[in-house]
Amino acid sequence: MELKSSRRDDTKITDSDLSEQIKAVTKDSHIRAENTELMLSYQKGEITLPQYQLLLCSLYEVYRALEDELDRSASHPSVVPIYFPQELGRLEALEEDLEHFFGPHWRKRITVPAATQRYVQRLREIGKQNPRLLVAHAYTRYLGDLSGGQVLGRITQKSLGLSNQEGLSFFSFPGVPSPNRFKQLYRSRMNSIELTKEERQELLDEAVLAFEANIEMFDDLQKILSLTKGTDVLKDTSTTANQKTLYNPVLQFTAGVCVALATIGMGMYAF
Ligand code: HEM
Repeated sequence: MELKSSRRDDTKITDSDLSEQIKAVTKDSHIRAENTELMLSYQKGEITLPQYQLLLCSLYEVYRALEDELDRSASHPSVVPIYFPQELGRLEALEEDLEHFFGPHWRKRITVPAATQRYVQRLREIGKQNPRLLVAHAYTRYLGDLSGGQVLGRITQKSLGLSNQEGLSFFSFPGVPSPNRFKQLYRSRMNSIELTKEERQELLDEAVLAFEANIEMFDDLQKILSLTKGTDVLKDTSTTANQKTLYNPVLQFTAGVCVALATIGMGMYAF
């Protein structure tokens, strides 16, 4: 889909528009998401390679489900206006990043916590039963990626000591030259979706749930990381990649996850 503005996309946005209501109802959740331990260590520039690797695995599973379901419902009247696979699709970017950090057999190394599994299940469920609600999930992830996510990209590069963009495809949107303009377009597309009062409320509730799913996912990831950090085997997991010397992140990461599994059996799923 091209980024041309149509008259409909230029329509003035008012408080009663879906884009404003969704922002308002998720305001508190956004603050909570920003203040999760994982996001806070991110903002302080303290993200470590194992943290980032683990996050990438979860994001991969979430976007695989989200984008599969959006593709499947691409002709649903509520999905059509916000369907931008070329501009927003993250799956290929995540695959590139995973290959960069885990090597060619990255698929065997994908590990996600129970909260990510639940998030994925929800996406699959609504994709089948009520695709309209995918709008809430697409909004939460993609507009987030185009907002705070852009800053997080720069922080990741610095924290991990990456000299170029390798491993950072997730943050790059080559089909979106101006994130702000694109967000405006996206909002007006959301506002063009025809909804009954009940459908609108359902969608707003789902957006809060989408933020909640992200918060739970971050908390679960952080729990695993905190548990593995305390073990001898992972003593260096807190070392940022900037400081890496004889440091094998993949081995440490794998060992850490094994220790977490063995120690607490907290319902993780490894593929
Ligand atoms: C370190 C964490 C984060 C920071 C620093 C951050 C920062 C921001 C900033 C500065 C904006 C732009 C606000 C505006 O244009 O008025 C924004 C928007 C947004 N963020 Fe975040 N964010 C973070 C985490 C998240 C997370 C975890 C999610 C959801 C999973 C998220 C979802 C969104 C969404 C959906 C918007 C668009 C709001 C709208 O315009 O309707 N953010 N964020």
